[in-house]
Amino acid sequence: MRHIMVINPKGGSGKSTLASNLAGYYACFGVKVALVDMDQQKTSLSWLRARPADRAAIFGLAATSGQPILPSEAEYIIYDTPAAIETQALREYLALADTIIIPVLPSPIDIRAASFFIYQLLLKNRITSEDKRIALIANRAKLRSVAYKALTRFTDTLKIPLITSLRDSRNYLLSAQQGLSIFELPGTGVLVDIEQWQPLLDWLGKTESPWQTQQGTQR
Ligand SMILES: Nc1ncnc2c1ncn2[C@@H]1O[C@H](COP(=O)(O)OP(=O)(O)OP(=O)(O)O)[C@@H](O)[C@H]1O
Ligand SMILES: [Mg+2]
Repeated sequence: MRHIMVINPKGGSGKSTLASNLAGYYACFGVKVALVDMDQQKTSLSWLRARPADRAAIFGLAATSGQPILPSEAEYIIYDTPAAIETQALREYLALADTIIIPVLPSPIDIRAASFFIYQLLLKNRITSEDKRIALIANRAKLRSVAYKALTRFTDTLKIPLITSLRDSRNYLLSAQQGLSIFELPGTGVLVDIEQWQPLLDWLGKTESPWQTQQGTQR
């Protein structure tokens, strides 16, 4: 079982968006995926409720406190975590994950919050890249903006890699409304977004994209 946690206590950084898209991606690939929603807002579970029955299945689980009871057949567990996590809860959450993905918005407030979170992660919780794989993702990035440059200056000072930058895209809203991942949207308008995901998917250890597999069939 692989345990991938999307986490950043800063609200609205894109945790649920990343978690649901990741779950959709692996499900398309035929992987048995459980999406664990640890947030009382239940964004990921409401995304799953909107998911059409004929799409690749994803197990949805709510786990706002304590250890989730995972389906034994699940191969990939994707955790969507809440904002504003208490110190003790953060420790318990981190213990569940083998891989940590931190989405960060390029804004001064988000960069400051991310820097505090990374301090908590590395120094207070003593997470090291030997115990867990950790990656940063710039989300809703405008590559030429001053804020994005400030974000990359900040990430350059860290030992955690910035794996990719995702643009602000309507495709995330369109797919979310329908309970789909961007990988399941038809048309060519989504290709830029899929390309931006590729470094993350490669980093997570898959080489073949389900989107490429489906290109000649379902799309
Ligand atoms: N790359 C993107 N392009 C466009 N919209 C995005 C993108 N990423 C996230 N969003 C939108 O931004 C909003 C916040 O994203 P999301 O809910 O994923 O953040 P979150 O970190 O889970 O928030 P919370 O801390 O409240 O749980 C949502 O409306 C989502 O659709
Ligand atoms: Mg969320």
